[in-house]
Amino acid sequence: MTKQIHLAAHFPGVNNTTVWSDPAAGSHIEFSSFVKLAQTAERAKFDFFFLAEGLRLREQNGQIYDLDVVGRPDTFTVLAALAAVTDRLGLTGTINSTFNEPYEVARQFASLDHLSAGRAGWNVVTSWDAFTGENFRRGGFLPQEQRYERAKTFLSTALELFDSWRGDEIAADVESGVYLRDPAAGSFAHRDAHFDISGRFSVPRSPQGGPVILQAGDSDEGREFAAAKADAIFARHGTLEAGQAFYADVKGRLAKYGRRHEDLLVLPAATFVLGDTDADAQERADVVRHQQVSGQTAIKLLEQLWNADLSGYDPDGPLPEFDPVVGEHTVARGRASVRSHRDPLATAREWRALAEAKNLSIRELIIQTSGRQNFIGAPATVAEKINELVQADASDGFILVPHVTPGGLDEFADTVVPLLQERGVFRTEYTGTTLREHLGLDGARPGGAA
Ligand SMILES: Cc1cc2nc3c(=O)[nH]c(=O)nc-3n(C[C@H](O)[C@H](O)[C@H](O)COP(=O)(O)O)c2cc1C
Repeated sequence: MTKQIHLAAHFPGVNNTTVWSDPAAGSHIEFSSFVKLAQTAERAKFDFFFLAEGLRLREQNGQIYDLDVVGRPDTFTVLAALAAVTDRLGLTGTINSTFNEPYEVARQFASLDHLSAGRAGWNVVTSWDAFTGENFRRGGFLPQEQRYERAKTFLSTALELFDSWRGDEIAADVESGVYLRDPAAGSFAHRDAHFDISGRFSVPRSPQGGPVILQAGDSDEGREFAAAKADAIFARHGTLEAGQAFYADVKGRLAKYGRRHEDLLVLPAATFVLGDTDADAQERADVVRHQQVSGQTAIKLLEQLWNADLSGYDPDGPLPEFDPVVGEHTVARGRASVRSHRDPLATAREWRALAEAKNLSIRELIIQTSGRQNFIGAPATVAEKINELVQADASDGFILVPHVTPGGLDEFADTVVPLLQERGVFRTEYTGTTLREHLGLDGARPGGAA
C-alpha cells in the first residue's frame, strides 16, 4: 500500500544550519517570523510546526557562542500565540522532563490543546548536561542513566493528570444550580521515586485528551522510551540505509508494549536546497554549506571534537598535529553535537585520512563532515527522493529544517508540495482538525497512566 507522507516545519534553530548572513534572513525572536513560517506550513497542509528548545545559552571556551543566533523565546508562549493565527496546523514544542515538574507542564499542554482546539504536541526530551541544570533549582541533579527513568514517570504522571478529567464532568444544570457533575473531577495522587504529588488538576479534559507525544533521544533507552510511550520520533537518521535500520529497530520494539507498527511514526530531521535544475540546486547547496561553515565556525566545530582551544589555527590550513584531548568535555557546553563524538580519537583518525586523501583544509573538511543537505535538486527530484524514502520504510515523513528564517519554506511549499499532492502521497486538504488526526493516530493514546 502506498504510504501517505507526513511533513512538519522546524523553526530554524540556534545552530549553524541556519544561515543568518543571507539577505533574506530575518529575526528569530520577533513574533512575525514564527507567524510567517507557521502560516506557510499551514498553507502547504503540513502536519505540524515544531520548536526545539535550549534552556541555557551555549558557551565555548568559557564564552557565549555567538557565531550563530543567540537566545530564543519561551516555547509555550510562542505556540499559544500561534494557535490564534493558525487554524489546523499542529503546534509541537520540545519540553524537558529533567528540569520541569509534571503538574506545571501538564497544565501548560492541556491549556495549549484547549486554545488550539486539539493541535498540541509535546517532544519529550531529557537533555543531558549539568551545565543546563545549573539554571534550575536542583542543578544537574540527575545522572544520565536516571534521566529516562524520570522521563517515563514524568510522562505517566502528566497522563494521569490529563486523565483525571474524563470529559463529561462539566454540565450546567440551571434547575439545581450544579455546574460540576462529578465531584471527583481532577482528583489525582501519584507517588514514586521521583514524584509525590496529589490534589486536583485544574484544567478540564482537552480536545485530544493531552498532547501528541514525540521523543527525540537516540540512545537505547531513548528508543525504548519512544516504543513504549511516544506517537512519533524526531529522528536523526534521514538517509536510506541509516533510516531503514533505525525504522526497523524502533518499530521492532513496539510489539512488546502491545502496540502496532502504525502507532509510532518515524520523522527524521531533514534539510533541503532547491534549484531550477539539479545542477543549479547543487551549486546553491555548495554556497549554502560555505555560508553555514565560515572559517570561524569551522574552528569552533573542530574544537568540539578536539576538546581544546584551537583559536590559533588557520581554518584554511591543516588539522592540528596533536590528537583530541580525551576526558571530560570542557570546551563546548549546552549543545547537542558535543555528545555525538562518542569516540573522538577514532573520528580524528578518519578525518585525518579524509583530509590527506582529498587535500582538505580544516574548513573544507568540516564542510564535508559536519552534515549536508538531505535533499538537493530540482523540485521533481526532491519530491521523488522524499517519496522514495518514505515508501522504502526509511521514514514516515520528515521534519523539514529550512536554512533561512522565516521565508525558507516558501519555495518548498510552492514547488515540491504540489508534486507530492499530484502523486497522491500528500494531502491536498486537511481532513481532520486535530494533530492526532493529521498523523493518522487513531485509537487510544499510548503509554497511559501506568
Ligand atoms: C533530532 C533530535 C533533536 C533534539 N532536539 C532537542 C532539543 O531541541 N532540545 C533538547 O534539549 N534536546 C534535544 N534533543 C536531545 C534530547 O535532549 C535527548 O533527550 C538527549 O539526546 C538524551 O537522550 P539520548 O541519550 O537518548 O540521545 C534532540 C535529540 C535529537 C536526536
